[in-house]
Amino acid sequence: MAAAHSTSDEYCVFGNPVEHSKSPWIHARFAQLTGQPLRYGKRLVAREGFAQAVSEFRAHGGKGCNVTVPFKFESPALATRLTARAQLAQAANTLRFDNDEVLGDNTDGVGLVNDIRHNAGLDLAGLDLLVVGAGGAASGLLGPLIGAVPRRITVVNRTHSKAAALIERHHALAEQMKVELQAAQLTQLHDSFDVVINATASSLAGDAVPVSARVLKPGALACDLMYGPAAQGFVEWAASNGAAARDGLGMLVEQAAESFLLWRGVRPPSAQVLAELRASLG
Ligand code: ATR
Repeated sequence: MAAAHSTSDEYCVFGNPVEHSKSPWIHARFAQLTGQPLRYGKRLVAREGFAQAVSEFRAHGGKGCNVTVPFKFESPALATRLTARAQLAQAANTLRFDNDEVLGDNTDGVGLVNDIRHNAGLDLAGLDLLVVGAGGAASGLLGPLIGAVPRRITVVNRTHSKAAALIERHHALAEQMKVELQAAQLTQLHDSFDVVINATASSLAGDAVPVSARVLKPGALACDLMYGPAAQGFVEWAASNGAAARDGLGMLVEQAAESFLLWRGVRPPSAQVLAELRASLG
């Protein structure tokens, strides 16, 4: 046992709170299934202690980490190089410690796109997408969603100025990819969409879904970024209005798979691990 530990690389997730995190379970399973020698733990960090905790973890031989709430926006400052998608998101959920650099990446958006493509079986190319919300969770999604070349992405948010700022930041990429990108006012949202993504915290707060069911085309796919009780309100709303409802468990596993790939150069069998995780949660 001790010998195995001494040869395994160490990773962790930093957060506050972090107790609930499924990442240790997911990465342990990825490691088993791919035969990669690694350990992965969770670390609760005081609000002011993030940079120091990361620095200590790296100094003790840590090879990389995931970063969750509330530190995702602090982590780019710890990286010496950022991927394009982390730059656009202005947030990093993954750090990789190399000899001479710290690479910061954001795998949330590609996790969602891969979940929709591979686990829900839907190709986003040419479709009409609605992103509800323009906070931290939404900002990680837009780059990879544009990369999936839908016809149009509309962002709507309770505070319109935040949606407008998000659109502005992604304008050049959207133009390059020939994807129509727009911010809409909640009160003037009259279109319906093939895919509706809930990136708000409204379900968590127990509030109603902030858009009318008219946004759902018949048979639309409706995804929440959260899972479990936090996604329940949106999932029930979507299903009762004829949509195919999807919680964020698939995105969680797929973003982890992208982190694992970045660290280990090996793509883990994410669909199998998602099925196992869903079964274990009942
Ligand atoms: P996160 O990192 O989870 O995105 P955040 O940055 O605080 O957290 O953003 C929360 C998002 O949920 C925002 O889009 C917020 O809208 P505002 O920008 O207007 O605050 C949205 N949100 C939170 N509670 C909401 C509610 N009850 N109804 C509608 N939108 C809500």
